[in-house]
Amino acid sequence: MVAWNRDESHLPAALRGLRLPLVGSPMFIVSGPELVIAQCKAGIIGSFPALNAREAEGEPPLLEIWLQQINDELDRHNQENPDRPAAPFAVNQIVHRSNVRLERDLEICNRYKVPIWITSLGARVEVNEAAHDCGGIVLHDIINNTFAKKAIDKGADGLIAVAAGAGGHAGPQSPFALIREIREWFDGPLLLSGAIATGEALLAACALGADFGYAGSPFIATTEANAQAEYKEMIVTSGAEDIVTSSLFTGVSGNYLKPSITAAGMDAENLPSADASSMNFGSGSSKPKAWKEIWGSGQGIGAIDKVMDTAELVDGIERAFLEVGARLANEFST
Ligand SMILES: Cc1cc2nc3c(=O)[nH]c(=O)nc-3n(C[C@H](O)[C@H](O)[C@H](O)COP(=O)(O)O)c2cc1C
Repeated sequence: MVAWNRDESHLPAALRGLRLPLVGSPMFIVSGPELVIAQCKAGIIGSFPALNAREAEGEPPLLEIWLQQINDELDRHNQENPDRPAAPFAVNQIVHRSNVRLERDLEICNRYKVPIWITSLGARVEVNEAAHDCGGIVLHDIINNTFAKKAIDKGADGLIAVAAGAGGHAGPQSPFALIREIREWFDGPLLLSGAIATGEALLAACALGADFGYAGSPFIATTEANAQAEYKEMIVTSGAEDIVTSSLFTGVSGNYLKPSITAAGMDAENLPSADASSMNFGSGSSKPKAWKEIWGSGQGIGAIDKVMDTAELVDGIERAFLEVGARLANEFST
């Protein structure tokens, strides 16, 4: 029986002792309480963007209802399964000036003592303070070493390196280059994102020096994801060649499924670009079309060949992670 043990003394308590070094990354529209609860019960950190919790005018904040639901479900799971407790969860805050809900959402997450905060599109001291004030930790996502240094200077506890091939707003850099440059000066929590869809890729991320893999697209094709059946099916039938990089839909470079662009009546091979000033998260996304009709995905989805439960997906990733880890360990001797 193969077991995975590592020195986790450099990691904050919230990131220690997990079944696998894996975080289910936050995805606009796709990640809701059902997926997060399934990921945490499967033993990996689950997450969702706060902006996904959207109530109708005059209704109580849906974010509070979701946080209560997640806490209650995970508490129940932990009481019933003391031998395999759920992993903690994370909430993603889009720290962009157009996110008019930010202050309210920070207050709610602080009050519910969210254990892990993931910040994107802007590093701000006051967001880090709101997290630390309730005992939370902040992981900030970056696409290069300069942004990584800025994020740590402003008080983030850890970094998410978003490398080439990632779904959503991917970076242009190779994970080999990016992780190496960050590890030259940073020995805190480091996550790697970009086309991690298998146990082999997860192991490779750890070999590079990342503490965790950060995977989104594979979870779109799970039963618990909040995605149309056609979107899930497109993940199953597509591969890396079907992913197009474009700034047209949100104002920042992102990766999308080519067939969804074609289905929306556009020429996926000849998309015009847009500039960053068109980014607007006031209503959650830059443009209503992006994410709803134009579906985001990273390049790793060739590994996904059916829609399945999150638990099954995580089991498969764990199996390969342990098998390949054991095989490699055998190939070395001291
Ligand atoms: C459909 C979709 C929506 C996303 N929405 C968000 C988001 O709202 N906030 C965020 O920080 N990252 C978002 N991302 C990026 C992911 O959190 C993560 O960086 C990426 O999915 C990792 O690459 P992978 O999809 O190849 O696993 C999104 C990704 C996808 C595919």
